[in-house]
Amino acid sequence: MSAIKLINIVGARPQIIKASAISRAIRLHFADRINEITIHTGQHYDKEMSAVFFDELEIHKPDYNLEVGSASHGRQISMMIIGIEEILTKEKPDCVLLYGDTNSTLAGAVAAAKLQFPIVHIEAGLRSFNKKMPEELNRIVSDHSSTLLFAPTNAAFKNLIREGFRPENSPPYTLDNPKIYLTGDIMYDNSLFFASLAEKKKKGFLRELDIDRDNFILTTIHRDINTDNIQRLQTILTTLKSLAEKYSIKFVMPLHPRTISSLKINLDKVYKELVSFDLIKIVPPVSFLEMTLLEKTAKIIITDSGGVQKESHFFKKPCIVLRKETEWIELVNNGTTVLVDADEDKIRNEFERIMADQSDFSYPTFYGDGRTAEFILNEVLMMFE
Ligand code: UD1
Ligand code: UDP
Repeated sequence: MSAIKLINIVGARPQIIKASAISRAIRLHFADRINEITIHTGQHYDKEMSAVFFDELEIHKPDYNLEVGSASHGRQISMMIIGIEEILTKEKPDCVLLYGDTNSTLAGAVAAAKLQFPIVHIEAGLRSFNKKMPEELNRIVSDHSSTLLFAPTNAAFKNLIREGFRPENSPPYTLDNPKIYLTGDIMYDNSLFFASLAEKKKKGFLRELDIDRDNFILTTIHRDINTDNIQRLQTILTTLKSLAEKYSIKFVMPLHPRTISSLKINLDKVYKELVSFDLIKIVPPVSFLEMTLLEKTAKIIITDSGGVQKESHFFKKPCIVLRKETEWIELVNNGTTVLVDADEDKIRNEFERIMADQSDFSYPTFYGDGRTAEFILNEVLMMFE
């Protein structure tokens, strides 16, 4: 069999990181059977939101960059669709690989499905059951435009079945006869692969930040509900500041550019207070190896990120989630991840509970064996045999 042509579509930070698991598996196991081409939509464009990952994680560099940048969702998605359609028409890939649930995923799904190129969707089936969340619409459309769907968890797999996907479908798989799989999570592959490398390559990073191993709180905030709603952002940050004071513990906050920008525009006084407070370290987004080291060595992780929630679990850290709901429900059922929304009392109570005692916390393996990317690529190849 000659090699197949697979087009990866990435755009946002977590997708670029996820693509490294696929690039690595292709390089190590399928170099003679899969030709990888990458389209970067340009949804994320700051060096620390994009280029840093290509440099650090040995990801196949983008063959095309649409440089779409930031815009309203309609405009951003339309520009992506136009650019992706042109490239797919020219390249005629055997399949298109999409990650997760961003606007770049949705644009790739619309462009590829309309041209009838089979879509492989990694991280299929996740649902928050909150359609006000932009990602929820992206997930539903992407899943229902796909031919091979890889659900990372049991809950995600069941969501697909509830929406009418049939696990018993047999080949040949098409848009009308899609195949759903229960796999692990390619981000678990990545965390396993990069964990010791992070320690080796980022020695000194904790010292640079002036923090001690196992004695700081790692916090990320980027979701629209928390950055665009000023009241929520203010409640979260003032509550965390008071907890830092009470426990005399440092908080490290690598913040997304949208969070910094909202703080500067809407909460300048709070922002200045935080920056001048020695227990809070607001820093620009960090590289994946730096983030991995922070996650490995934090005492507690507080976040509204999907990826960071899971990585907390990979590194056996309790996680406080600044949202009402989560797609990674197994973590909440496990009792080591808690949902606190942006509610001051809940944030405070859960933080204090976890600081007091973590002795009965356990972190079972929910996300596969660390070789999920290899499994996915094998299944993709079978579609063409
Ligand atoms: C997007 C995804 C979200 C994902 C997140 C990962 C959608 C709808 N949302 O959210 O699911 O969790 O990426 O980080 O696709 N900005 C910069 N520099 C950049 C990129 C963005 O300054 O390199 C700022 C711009 O002001 C922009 C804002 O961040 O308007 C939001 O960026 P956008 O890509 O629209 O959404 P994210 O919040 O990053
Ligand atoms: N991440 C990173 N640097 C940061 C913050 C996050 O490398 O400063 C990584 C994190 O480890 C995870 C991914 O980015 O792998 C999560 O992306 P993000 O939180 O932006 O989006 P989400 O997962 O919520 O879609």
